Amino acid sequence: MTAMTFPDLDNYVQDPLHPVKPNVPTFAGPDEIPSHVPPELVKSCGLMFSPEFLAAPHEYMAAMQHNFPPIFYDVTPYRNAWHLTKHEDCLFVLRHADIFRNLEASPFPRDPDDYFFFIPQEVDPPQHRKYRNIVDPLFCPAGIKTLEGLIRQRAIDIIDGFVGDGECNFNTAFGRPLPVSVFLDIMGLPQDMRDTFVGWADIMIHSSDQAEIADAFGKAIVYLRGAIAEKKANPDGGVVSLIANAEIEGRKLSDKEVFGFVCFLWIGGLDTVYATLNNIWLWLAQNPDRVQEIIDRPDDIDKIVEELLRRYSVTFSTRVVMKDIEMRGVQIKKGDRVMTVLPSANFDPEVFPNPLEVDFDRPRKTILAFTVGVHSCMGGHLARMELKIALQEWLKRIPKFSVKPGAQIAFKPGGVVGPAAVPLVW
Ligand code: HEM
Repeated sequence: MTAMTFPDLDNYVQDPLHPVKPNVPTFAGPDEIPSHVPPELVKSCGLMFSPEFLAAPHEYMAAMQHNFPPIFYDVTPYRNAWHLTKHEDCLFVLRHADIFRNLEASPFPRDPDDYFFFIPQEVDPPQHRKYRNIVDPLFCPAGIKTLEGLIRQRAIDIIDGFVGDGECNFNTAFGRPLPVSVFLDIMGLPQDMRDTFVGWADIMIHSSDQAEIADAFGKAIVYLRGAIAEKKANPDGGVVSLIANAEIEGRKLSDKEVFGFVCFLWIGGLDTVYATLNNIWLWLAQNPDRVQEIIDRPDDIDKIVEELLRRYSVTFSTRVVMKDIEMRGVQIKKGDRVMTVLPSANFDPEVFPNPLEVDFDRPRKTILAFTVGVHSCMGGHLARMELKIALQEWLKRIPKFSVKPGAQIAFKPGGVVGPAAVPLVW
C-alpha cells in the first residue's frame, strides 16, 4: 500500500497558452495502491487487454455488472484507477466537471518540458467552451446535415467498388474507407494519407508497446505540424485551416493550442466510427432476421442507430477527482483517477433491461457511447449520420450477407473496442 501524497491540484492553473503538466500522481501495479483503498475493492479486471476480455469484449463488459462491485479499484501495469460501471454513477461523474476534471485524460506520451493539452478534451470550463465554439458550428446537427449528400455518395461509390465480388473484408473495404475519407475531407487533409494515418492511429490506440506508440505518435506530430504550417500559409475550407487561423477573444491561437486541437481531432476521428461499424456489421452478419427488421422499418432508422450505439459503444472516459468524495459508501480521494466504463454502463440492467438484447423499441434513455456533459463527443452527430447512411446504402445493395465460413473473429486490444477483421460473403 502506498501512502497517498495529495497533489497541489487546488493551485494548478490550467493555461492552454502556457501549458504545464498537472501534478497528478500515477500509480501502477499491485505495489502502488493508495492506503485509503479497501483491499476488498482492489481488482484486476483485465479490461482492454486480457484474453478473457478479448474473447468477447461487449459480453465481458456486460458481465462486469455482476462480476465486479459497481465501484472498484483496478490495478494494471499501466495505470491504476477507480472503475465505475453503474449508469447513474457515470452520469454523476460526467455531469460534474468541477469535481471530476479532464487532467491528463489522454494517455499519449508528451514531453513534460514542452507540454501541450489535447484540446478540447483536456481543457475544462470555462475555457473549454471557447475552443468548442470554433468548431461546433460545423459539427452540430445542422452543420453535419450539410454533409449528408457527400457522405451518401461516398458510401455508394465505395460499395459499388466491391458489390460484384460477392465477398470482402468489411474493415478494409468499407468500415475504414467511409469514415476516414469523410474525416479527411472535413479536415482538409489529403486522401492519399488515409492508410498511413490509420496505421499510426492503429498503433497508438491498440498497441501496449510504449516505444512503438511513441514512434507512431512522433511521426503523426511531424506530419500534423507540417500540415498546420501549410494551412496557415494557404488557408482553405477545412477544419485544420479553420483552427490554424482561428481567434479567441481577439487573439490568434498559439502554436501549441492549434497543434493540441488538430492532434486531438485527428486521434478522436480516425478509429472510433471505424470500430463501431465493424462491431455492428459483425452483429448484422450473424443476425439475418434483424437485418430484415432494419430493412422493414425505414422510418425508425434514428432509433435503430441509437440502440446499436448503446449495444456496441467502443470507448471509455477518465477523470481526476478534485476533492474527497464518497460514492456508494466508497471513499474516493482528491487526486485519484476515475474511469467511467461507458460500454459497461450501457449494459446496466437497472436502466436497460436485458442489456445484451438489441431492442429497437427500448424506452428512450441517455446512452453513454459519446459521454454526456461538457466533454460530450464533438463528433457524435457526424458518427450518427455516417452509421445511418452506411446502414441505408449497404442494405439497399447487400441485404443478405454472412460471416465467411471458417473465419475466426479476433478483437483488437486497446482503448477502442472492435474486431480486427470481419470477412463477409453474400
Ligand atoms: C462512434 C464514434 C465515436 C465515439 C464512440 C466517440 C466517443 C467519444 C467519447 C466517449 C468522448 C469523451 C471523452 C472524454 O470524456 O474524455 C469523445 C470526445 C470527443 N470526440 Fe468522439 N467519438 C466518436 C467519434 C468522433 C469523431 C468522428 C470525432 C471527430 C470528428 C470525434 C471527436 C471528439 C472530440 C473532439 C472529443 C472531445 C470533446 C470535448 O472534450 O469537448 N469523435 N468521443
